[in-house]
Amino acid sequence: MLPELERFTSSLGVDFELYPFDIAGSVAHARGLGAAGIIKPSQLRAIERGLRQVKRELDDGSFEFLDSDEDIHTAIERRLTEITPAGAALHAGRSRNDQVALDLRLYCRSASAAAVSAIGNVVDRLGAQAAGHASWPMPGYTHLQRAQPVTLGHHLLAHAEPLLRDADRFRRAYDSADEMPLGSGALAASTLPLRREAVAKELGFARLTANSIDAVSDRDFALDLVHACVVTSLHLSRLAEDVVLWSTAEFGFVVLADEISTGSSLMPQKKNPDVAELLRARSGRAIGSLVALATTMKGLPLAYDRDLQEDKPAVFAAVEGTLDSLEAAAILVERLRFDRDRIAAAANDPSLLATDAAEELVRAGTPFRRAHEKVGESVREGTLKVPWTVERSLAKRDVPGGPNPRRVKARAQAVARAGAALKTWAKAHPPRLPL
Ligand code: ARG
Repeated sequence: MLPELERFTSSLGVDFELYPFDIAGSVAHARGLGAAGIIKPSQLRAIERGLRQVKRELDDGSFEFLDSDEDIHTAIERRLTEITPAGAALHAGRSRNDQVALDLRLYCRSASAAAVSAIGNVVDRLGAQAAGHASWPMPGYTHLQRAQPVTLGHHLLAHAEPLLRDADRFRRAYDSADEMPLGSGALAASTLPLRREAVAKELGFARLTANSIDAVSDRDFALDLVHACVVTSLHLSRLAEDVVLWSTAEFGFVVLADEISTGSSLMPQKKNPDVAELLRARSGRAIGSLVALATTMKGLPLAYDRDLQEDKPAVFAAVEGTLDSLEAAAILVERLRFDRDRIAAAANDPSLLATDAAEELVRAGTPFRRAHEKVGESVREGTLKVPWTVERSLAKRDVPGGPNPRRVKARAQAVARAGAALKTWAKAHPPRLPL
């Protein structure tokens, strides 16, 4: 191929990231070939030794790439064969088509586990902040207008619950990547007696892919992962927006410490919520990735097409952006300080208790529509009489899922435990790479 076109078709700049997975996959494949008697024990030993050396060179940066290395897979095999002639036996029964499918599945599994752990960090910090502020009254908003009383802890937990759902999404993404495609070859498996189960076991896969054509064409697992990234980043953007809004002089609910804010190059008085603003914006990357990947897949004929090489920039950008955002969000949440007086002053607005007044009339037998009208009138005339304090209102909002401080405290503790459990789950799902 012309050098100009080699550059265009090369994916080395992007798929370099897959090298630990590619080497692990090659070790497992070689062991499978060994077990099936397709390569000799001495060849297997030479291949394993050679792959270990290739990995060392890639780890320490001494690996020398050639212009003719089209992707990381060809580069690794080329170098292995330079180290040992046994390298030439490795690719039996394998195609780069099932090889890239394998590598990307291994990557997606490990990225999913990393995301679960990173979400665990944000969630347990939100849980801790919520437990510490379980009883602080604050206005709850609809249409960004003051509506009814809630507690600060309740509002913070409203950002933790979506993240717990996100962790479930990543666990499902892990599961959808957890199928072993090697043995599918280019698209029609192999005439060699490949030991697919043994290879799957070596790499800790739960299942084998069920159809060799589908196995090299399928990127649903990547779409699942990117989708989980999208939804998570949307949630982080909403959390970030609260930080931006609450740190304005108009709200003043949040005090931004110097270590989580930036100054202005021009205005000496400024403290800007840049971290939160970037969290708000960064979701664009994951959304872009989802659109790019879905567009690549649309109408793609079975089985493998080179179009599929474009999956990796999309997946990597979504994953890296989301992991970075989760890390920043955990730090931000941990260091948020709340201004008790400003929040209490906002929560002291009697109009927050207008619904309480109407519900008090309902308790005394007035139909709700009539009570709504009557209280509405008194609000307009400035004669609203609130039936009780905001604290009492919160205590009375004692239904499951409500802002009653005792319930908020209990939920906050449960959420913090759930966050810790996510980290435990992630630890129990390490990348299972034989080398
Ligand atoms: N670099 C390619 C990819 O990432 C590897 C597969 C190439 N297969 C092929 N038949 N040309 O998808």
